[in-house]
Amino acid sequence: MYFPAVLTITIVLVSSNRAGADAPSAPCDISVEDTSNLTLNCSRRDIVKIPNWPEQINNISKDGHVLVTFFNNSITNITQLSPIPGNRIAISFKSNRVIEIEDDAFRNIPRLVYLDLSNNKISGQVLRSEIFQGPYEDGIYREIALETLNLGYNEIHSLDRYLFKYTPNLTRLYLNNNPIEILDHVSILAISSATNLEVLDLSKTDIDSIPLDAFRGLVKLQQIDLSDNHFVTVPESLSLVGSTLKYLTFNNNPVVELNDDSFVGLSNVIELEVGENDYLDEVKRGTFTPLKSLKVLHLCHNRNLRYISHNAFRGLKDKWTLKEVYLDDNNLSELSPDLMPWSKLDVLGMTGNSWLCNCDLVNIVNKQGAGDKFKSDEVPYCAAPMRLSGEYITNITINFCPMLDKTFSPRKTFSLSDLRPKHVLWTILAVAMVAAFGMILGLLVNAIKKVYKTRFQSQPIHYININSDSSFA
Ligand SMILES: *[C@@H]1O[C@H](CO)[C@@H](O)[C@H](O)[C@H]1NC(C)=O
Ligand SMILES: *[C@@H]1O[C@H](CO)[C@@H](O)[C@H](O)[C@H]1NC(C)=O
Ligand SMILES: *[C@@H]1O[C@H](CO)[C@@H](O)[C@H](O)[C@H]1NC(C)=O
Ligand SMILES: *[C@@H]1O[C@H](CO)[C@@H](O)[C@H](O)[C@H]1NC(C)=O
Ligand SMILES: *[C@@H]1O[C@H](CO)[C@@H](O)[C@H](O)[C@H]1NC(C)=O
Ligand SMILES: *[C@@H]1O[C@H](CO)[C@@H](O)[C@H](O)[C@H]1NC(C)=O
Ligand SMILES: *[C@@H]1O[C@H](CO)[C@@H](O)[C@H](O)[C@H]1NC(C)=O
Ligand SMILES: *[C@@H]1O[C@H](CO)[C@@H](O)[C@H](O)[C@H]1NC(C)=O
Repeated sequence: MYFPAVLTITIVLVSSNRAGADAPSAPCDISVEDTSNLTLNCSRRDIVKIPNWPEQINNISKDGHVLVTFFNNSITNITQLSPIPGNRIAISFKSNRVIEIEDDAFRNIPRLVYLDLSNNKISGQVLRSEIFQGPYEDGIYREIALETLNLGYNEIHSLDRYLFKYTPNLTRLYLNNNPIEILDHVSILAISSATNLEVLDLSKTDIDSIPLDAFRGLVKLQQIDLSDNHFVTVPESLSLVGSTLKYLTFNNNPVVELNDDSFVGLSNVIELEVGENDYLDEVKRGTFTPLKSLKVLHLCHNRNLRYISHNAFRGLKDKWTLKEVYLDDNNLSELSPDLMPWSKLDVLGMTGNSWLCNCDLVNIVNKQGAGDKFKSDEVPYCAAPMRLSGEYITNITINFCPMLDKTFSPRKTFSLSDLRPKHVLWTILAVAMVAAFGMILGLLVNAIKKVYKTRFQSQPIHYININSDSSFA
């Protein structure tokens, strides 16, 4: 009974051992769609040494696509790979133990467009420009087609300034989850030499600043992720790419407030995400004013965010571009009715806050139609006052709320027409009382002065001149 099972296990072990040695043919699954599409799945096979490619790979046509994945093996050394035909080659070494990459590792695969080296043990020293050298022709090394390079989850502190010398088409660079800490001069030179970069991920790299000229030359940068770092303000250096940047992600940084300096120059950003910033307490006047193209705003999971200034979108209301605003899971209780033109939104998220259901909120939700913008399963409810606690805010009507005629009543500005006769009376009375108090105070001071004069003026104070007094000599 036990023999077949043991035998099977032994065979599996033997064959996987064979794969681990320098197996001439890959122990990988090949799926061939046709001559223009081949996938070689070498995932989870305890591979320690890169095997040779199977024969079928040579049948791929000139414009074919090839994907080779070594996900989750034990490769430590990326040695020079054998040629792969086709036009777009993608290779993944994700989740191995790579500590070394040979010079010219990819020179036989100049059409390598996608390379995933994430979750390895690669240090900055390993990343030399020579590893990306293309074919050696006419006495020079050619370039390779690389467009996407994932270096996330490694041990990179710094980049070689010539790292991208042979990869002029690099478009997406992921450096997330590396102990960079400081973007030093050479790293900056490396990054800014990748002039075709559109996507840059610097999340969780322990940085707290970005030098002002870091992004000079990145004239195509569209998307940047700066989450999970130590920034106390949104870095000013972003304004250098303000004319191209479209997506900014800025989660989990120790910012305490956002203000009119935070997003200066970012006039083309269409989607902004500012979430999980535990210290963020206030969004101030004019914060979003520079974001003249913003369509989607995620301002969620900032658990101490209590105030959003009613002027946060100052200057944007006339040319309103925002379609989706998510304010879920903050610590908000009130919003101003004139914060934004609520009716112009397509989607609004407000769940997970402690809403005080007052006339302002009723105005926003009912009168200005914000209540129609919630997703059907994401209707926020009231936390206060007690008698409304737990009610959906779309359910609330408050009888005594003043009827507002205009959609945007200028709140917190004061005009004379707001004064009712009762107010005027009280004001006059208050002024009279202040005047009377002043007069009494004046009389009192005079009386005291008189007393002082008669009592003490006869004894003038003597100033001792230290220099002339002999007792100090
Ligand atoms: C190649 O085939 C796979 C299915 O085997 C498919 O998922 C993939 O989209 C195809 N790729 C191209 C570029 O045609
Ligand atoms: C690749 O092979 C592994 C191991 O056999 C398997 O778990 C995985 O689902 C395969 N992946 C794909 C995309 O076929
Ligand atoms: C390559 O393609 C030819 C015909 O298109 C076929 O006869 C041959 O078996 C293929 N070779 C492999 C290794 O698949
Ligand atoms: C890789 O596979 C091992 C088992 O061989 C597993 O323990 C580990 O979690 C896997 N790693 C990843 C990133 O999936
Ligand atoms: C990696 O492999 C190459 C070629 O086999 C070898 O020359 C080099 O010493 C290896 N490096 C390491 C760190 O094992
Ligand atoms: C870079 O992209 C351009 C435009 O797609 C292409 O003409 C050029 O050959 C590419 N460079 C390399 C080294 O592949
Ligand atoms: C939200 O703010 C209140 C005070 O307004 C505070 O007591 C409470 O702890 C805050 N909630 C969180 C999750 O920080
Ligand atoms: C909302 O109002 C409807 C009736 O208008 C009621 O059936 C429902 O229970 C209310 N829901 C909440 C959560 O207050």
